[in-house]
Amino acid sequence: MAIPDDEVAQVRAATDIVALIGEQVALRQQGRRWVGLCPFHAEKTASFSVNAEEGFYYCFGCQASGDAITFVRAIDTLDFADAVRQLAGRAGITLHEGAGKGSDSKWKSELLDAMERAVTWYHQRLLSAPDAGPARDYLRSRGYDGSVVRQFRLGWAPDDWDALSTSLKLSEKVLTATGLGFVNRRGRRQDAFRGRIIFPICDPSGHPVALGGRILPPRAGAPAPDPNRGPEPKYKNSQETVIYSKRRTLYGLNWAKKDIVATGEVVVCEGYTDVIGFFQAGVERAVATCGTALAEEHFRVLRNFGRKIVLAYDADSAGENATARVYEWERQHEVDVAVAVLPPGTDPGELAARDPKALAAAVAESRPFLQFRLDRVLQGADRSTAEGRAKAAEAAIAVIAEHPDDLVRDQYAMTVSDWCRLEPDAVRRRLDEARRRPRPPSSSRPGREPDEARHRAQRDEGPPPRDEPPDGPYDERPARSVPDARPDPSLRPGMEALRLAVHRPEAVADRLEDVLFSDELQRRAFLALADAENLHDAIDGAPPDVADLLRRVAVEEPVISDEPLRDPVDAVIARLIREASKRALSDLQVQTRISPAGLEETHLETATVRRWLEKLDDDTDGSEAMSWLLAWLLERRREV
Ligand code: UTP
Ligand code: MN
Repeated sequence: MAIPDDEVAQVRAATDIVALIGEQVALRQQGRRWVGLCPFHAEKTASFSVNAEEGFYYCFGCQASGDAITFVRAIDTLDFADAVRQLAGRAGITLHEGAGKGSDSKWKSELLDAMERAVTWYHQRLLSAPDAGPARDYLRSRGYDGSVVRQFRLGWAPDDWDALSTSLKLSEKVLTATGLGFVNRRGRRQDAFRGRIIFPICDPSGHPVALGGRILPPRAGAPAPDPNRGPEPKYKNSQETVIYSKRRTLYGLNWAKKDIVATGEVVVCEGYTDVIGFFQAGVERAVATCGTALAEEHFRVLRNFGRKIVLAYDADSAGENATARVYEWERQHEVDVAVAVLPPGTDPGELAARDPKALAAAVAESRPFLQFRLDRVLQGADRSTAEGRAKAAEAAIAVIAEHPDDLVRDQYAMTVSDWCRLEPDAVRRRLDEARRRPRPPSSSRPGREPDEARHRAQRDEGPPPRDEPPDGPYDERPARSVPDARPDPSLRPGMEALRLAVHRPEAVADRLEDVLFSDELQRRAFLALADAENLHDAIDGAPPDVADLLRRVAVEEPVISDEPLRDPVDAVIARLIREASKRALSDLQVQTRISPAGLEETHLETATVRRWLEKLDDDTDGSEAMSWLLAWLLERRREV
């Protein structure tokens, strides 16, 4: 049930690769290319390049390369057909695959479609249904006006068994696979969310993939909750589904990504209402994990948008569960983790309602993670006695010892020596000892354990996901981080010519020949191009090394000219011909040394070639010299 080639081509052509990749990577325009931080390996300077016109990307750091289809395959771990289906869906193209069974991605888009309809339905209910009155009152009392409700598409799930399932006529299969409902023991469909305010959780493109639902606070004088129903958790969250992975999803990222990209900073908090609070306070770059601890996978997602990560948990939970893992993440993902300090006992949602300026200030004044932890240790210390200072130093040293970088550790050690009035060397010695002691296991567990346990006790979900080893499309690749994989200067003329052949085929038609390329890979790439109708066909039909090179060339600037007076295309071709001719000349000389017959003729030939070579840069004779030398090179190949 293959997808016809012409439809694959159509999907490719219809896909705006810059928009597609731009959903995952912050891209900025540079000449005809777009550049950004590579999503396939950790880096701080942008070596990832996208060519919009040709539809290719290439990373000069890790050599990841491909087109829109390759990109979707890598990012979403899809096979070729599913990647094409997904892009077709995006572009509104109907594929003619024959009447097959629902594919994986067709199924996913069915689920996404159901989620979208459900979110709209819940939203409408909140906006206008009479039974949503108390919910509207509650939201208003929290300072959420109509614009907030609309921006975050908040909804109301009525307190009925099956209002959503029946209104949307969702099939049993879709109902359960989205987590929107289930089939009860009597075989009847039932909604999963009832009597709750709905917070839609979206993927980075803004498609709802899951829901969070909050109960309303009990009203004064309301009857006691039905004891048969058991205690209701404050929040209920969708379970994981084929379209929803908790480890990867961040609530709010779809709304926050613009500001994250613009500022390079992302604020990570705990809850839906915290994210909304940040937006209300004008900090429009906040995201939240959805009822789970911040995990490795979240970093992998976030680092593609911004490299400074500000944790804004409530003050009690942020510090105490600080872990060596944070440093590991900082290093591995090349992010900087900082902490926004909030007044004790408040969370961002509350602070936003009470004092939005203070909330914004807390972010502006966020401190590096280690600084934050150290401040907390020192704050609680008794500085007035020698014993108090020694105890504080001990605790501070334990905190500092977790940091992997000795230069960083040493600077903080100096702070401690100042603060505790100790000799720097004494602090350093203790620090070394602390480093040698095996780390207690509690400090290497990520997350916010006490808090986590507190929530989990009342939550509708199992144990928190463990941090699993990296997997899937973001797998770290072995570092192959040579900025230019093949920097040999003798390759330059050939590369320049290849760029022209890719980007301005009309300008070099009939002027390039494979004999001109000394590098075998370049030569094969040129031939692949020459034999194909277009770049895509050339790449599709080429062996991997050639395809790689062509994709790389596709994202490079087409013409590099350092001879302003000359037509840049001429300059490139002249350089290439000169190099090829010089090589041929020295071959010729080697040859005559081996078999001196025809020495006379060879001298003559050499002299003629030299004369034309001199004319190559000449204004008047340049193009004649090019044709002569090219013909000579072709002739020579026939002889050799
Ligand atoms: P909080 O208890 O701090 O709630 O839980 P909140 O975000 O401040 O909400 P409001 O302001 O009281 O309405 C923070 C996050 O923990 C998860 C939710 O994701 C919530 O947003 N949580 C909390 C649950 O999953 N289940 C719960 O029962 C409670
Ligand atoms: Mn909270």
